Formats: sequence, C-alpha cells, structure tokens
Amino acid sequence: MSRETSPGVTVRQLIEYGARAFESARLWFGHGTDNAVDEAAELVFFAAGLRHEDAPIVYETTLNEQQRARVLELFDRRIRERIPAAYLTNRMWFAGYEFHVDERVLVPRSPIAELIEARYEPWIDPDRIERLLDIGTGSGCIAIASALVLPQAQVDAVDVSDDALAVAAINIARYGLQTRVRALRSDVFDGVQGKRYDVIVSNPPYVGDEELASLPPEYAREPRVGLHGGQDGLEIVHRILREAAHYLTPHGILIVEVGNSEETLVAAYPKVPFTWLEFERGGGGVFLLTADELRQLTQGRR
Ligand SMILES: C[S@@+](CC[C@H](N)C(=O)[O-])C[C@H]1O[C@@H](n2cnc3c(N)ncnc32)[C@H](O)[C@@H]1O
Repeated sequence: MSRETSPGVTVRQLIEYGARAFESARLWFGHGTDNAVDEAAELVFFAAGLRHEDAPIVYETTLNEQQRARVLELFDRRIRERIPAAYLTNRMWFAGYEFHVDERVLVPRSPIAELIEARYEPWIDPDRIERLLDIGTGSGCIAIASALVLPQAQVDAVDVSDDALAVAAINIARYGLQTRVRALRSDVFDGVQGKRYDVIVSNPPYVGDEELASLPPEYAREPRVGLHGGQDGLEIVHRILREAAHYLTPHGILIVEVGNSEETLVAAYPKVPFTWLEFERGGGGVFLLTADELRQLTQGRR
C-alpha cells in the first residue's frame, strides 16, 4: 500500500487515505459497496468498533494506536489479497438486516432486497404469502429478510452447497427463526417435491463461461458454485422455468435474478412475457412471472 501520504489519525482522514489507496490500486467495488469511500469507511468503522448510525458525529474522532493499526492492516489485506470488505469484517447488511458472511457464501447484494422491503407488493398481497421458497439461499439473506417482513410466512431456504447451508443456519439462529425458516439441501426443486409456494424467489448462479473468465480478482474469493451457471450462465434458470409451475399456488409468483444474462434469456424464450422489475437503488436483471404465465410456458410456449 502507498505510504506516500500520512494515513492521519481521525476517522475522516483514515477513510480518505484508504479510499485514495484503493483507487490507486484499482480495486473492484461491487460486493455490497460500489465505491472506494464506502469500502474504506466500512473497514474503518469495523476495525475501530464504531457504529454506522453514529457516522456524522464520529468523523472527527481520533483513533488510538491500536485501532489505527487494525484499520491499516485491513486496508493492506484489501489491497494485497483483493478480499472484498465483507469477508474481512464477516458482515453485510441486506434489506436493512445484518448478516454473517464468510467465503463459504456470496456477499449479499441482490436488488431483490428492495422487493422484500416492499413485502413483495404490488406483485402479490403480502397477507396471502403463507409459504415462500428461496432457491440458492447462500447466507440465507433473501429467505430470512422475507421471513422478518412476513411474520406469518413459512420459508424454505434451499441450497446445493452444505457450506452455504451452514452459514444460513448461523443467520437463521441469529434472528431466532428456526421454527419458520428451514434450511435444506436441495438441487433446485429436488428436495421440495410435492410442495406449493405463494412466492418462489431465487438469485441463482447466472454467470456464463465467458463472463466468469473476465471477472475482477475479488470474485475469485466467492464460491464458484454461487456464480457459475454453466456455459450460457442460465443452466439453473432453465431448470427453474421448466419446473416452477408445479411448485406454485394458483395466485403464486416467481421472481428470479439473472443479471447480465437478461438478453440471453429473452433470446432463448422470445414468447415468454417476462416482467422486468425496476429498482430505485439501481441494479436490474430480475424478472417476475405469474403462475398462469408459467403454466402457459410449460404447455409449450417458449
Ligand atoms: C448467487 S448465489 C445467491 C446467494 C444468496 N441467495 C444471495 O442472494 O446473496 C447462488 C446460490 O445458489 C446456490 N446453488 C448453486 N447451484 C444450485 C442448485 N443446483 N440448487 C440449489 N442451489 C444452488 C449456490 O450454492 C449459491 O449459494
């Protein structure tokens, strides 16, 4: 890391120093923050034991030697090892809730958070969501945040990775949701045969071969099973589309994130009336289909 300028001693000076160092090292931001200042701020607040809620009043606080050394060590690791900040702090916020994260799961960052904050309105009446399925739950963020905003709902959080399920279990216990959120091993729908859900939501792996090879080094820190969706990126999405109608209630909805693979998906299913959702905080590539629309798809329209 560059030592040309002094890191300073206040919270503000350290954040500015870190952000400058991150920018000159050409780091990639996209794992929960989208710029150098926010990434540096998270590391400073974490290392110094400060709360983000206190941000405006602590900026001019002077850190002691120990806090300062911890901050500089994290900056150094962020640059040298290209580890996303969330794996250095083992925490990330999603839909307003804090989750434990580590390298066994993807760093939560799906725009689906906004939909959860809106309790899935206006797409379905939240009071009619009795059962929800989250496919590829990872840290459990989508399943758990959904359960927290829908106090009557039973949630199945499935993943093919035992590592991910272990992290989801930590977060389920953290929110005391063991009776309402069930983490279970399932290859897409294989483990939930015969069940019906009012909402099926998924942020599956959707990165194709070509895109995977071109991703910045920070992505190599994440589990490949969380990113790689086969050659065209849509292997899991094709399976979800083929089978979802059998697992939805008549008024149910399917919501799936496909990110940059949106164009490939639309080209593969020219007749399917995807509704592409819009998000105030940015991000996209999330579609919605109703149970009716999916039934037509399984009856041969593609
Ligand atoms: C993009 S990550 C999403 C994690 C989390 N839902 C989130 O939004 O942060 C995709 C997840 O899908 C899981 N996954 C991959 N293939 C799967 C499969 N065939 N069946 C179920 N889950 C799968 C991965 O283990 C990973 O946890």
